[in-house]
Amino acid sequence: MRKKVTKAIFPVAGLGTRFLPATKAVPKEIMTLVDQPLIQYAIDEAREAGIKEFIFVTSRGKSALEDYFDNNPVLEQTLRKQGKTELLNILRRTNMESGAIAYIRQHKALGLGHAVWCARNLIANEPFAVILPDDVIAAEEPCLKQMVDAYAETGGSMVAAMEVPKEKASAYGVLDVDEDMGSLVSVKGMVEKPKAEEAPSNLAVIGRYILSPNVLRNLNKKEAGAGGEIQLTDAIAKEIGGENGVYGFRFRGKRFDCGSKAGFLQATVAFAMEREELRDELGEYLREMMAAEQAAQ
Ligand code: UTP
Repeated sequence: MRKKVTKAIFPVAGLGTRFLPATKAVPKEIMTLVDQPLIQYAIDEAREAGIKEFIFVTSRGKSALEDYFDNNPVLEQTLRKQGKTELLNILRRTNMESGAIAYIRQHKALGLGHAVWCARNLIANEPFAVILPDDVIAAEEPCLKQMVDAYAETGGSMVAAMEVPKEKASAYGVLDVDEDMGSLVSVKGMVEKPKAEEAPSNLAVIGRYILSPNVLRNLNKKEAGAGGEIQLTDAIAKEIGGENGVYGFRFRGKRFDCGSKAGFLQATVAFAMEREELRDELGEYLREMMAAEQAAQ
């Protein structure tokens, strides 16, 4: 029997420089997509995949993130008195059970691999998930749930993968595919941020992982990789050819790169258009805007 995946690491210690000056005072993960912070989407996805323990790797200036998951009894009492049950229910989804959430500090932003390694003592010897909250995925079945189900079949380490144009591959970790089985591919190599002409495929790794605890041991050496950072991809690649191997998983859904301004804006429009109370008004505005732009050309 494979061990169930019940722990997830959320690395949120990055500097978020692409959103300065906003991120000078507000952690990127607290920035709002329609009406919820990015981190709430990540937590909801993890819960639906059966995650019970939520481990945040944080850094200086992220206290707003810790406050967000605290109960706010004064606010709850006010809403109760006012009979605002719907708002109360929305608020309750943000409360975390005592002991379900842990915060670990990454003292220096040495890279994603290093951030994950910082949580090693809370993982012990079991498979675990990693979720990057700035990758937001719109999907009928949550992406991590799809992966947990696929993992139950394969074991080994698994990365979420999507097709990207080759010229964009240099922004991602890219898979060298051994066998393509459709939604699953077995992997014979992984390259972090390759030059476009050196990318082994157009299958890029995005921010969802299910990893063997061996990956944490591989990170013990703290070897710097692309960009001088300790890369998670390099530590996963060391598992290739090992007992359970490494798989890429083509998830069903659309990923938005909310770590970039354009991606965040696209997600805002896409998620807002899914909301009944916003669709008509926003849709009309977008149509008007497009028409005005076309008329001006
Ligand atoms: P990014 O590459 O998006 O970096 O990190 P960033 O610092 O968040 O943002 P920019 O590029 O300066 O705008 C991807 C994920 O890895 C985490 C980030 O918090 C984000 O979730 N990360 C990255 C860490 O936790 N620690 C690190 O040392 C690096």
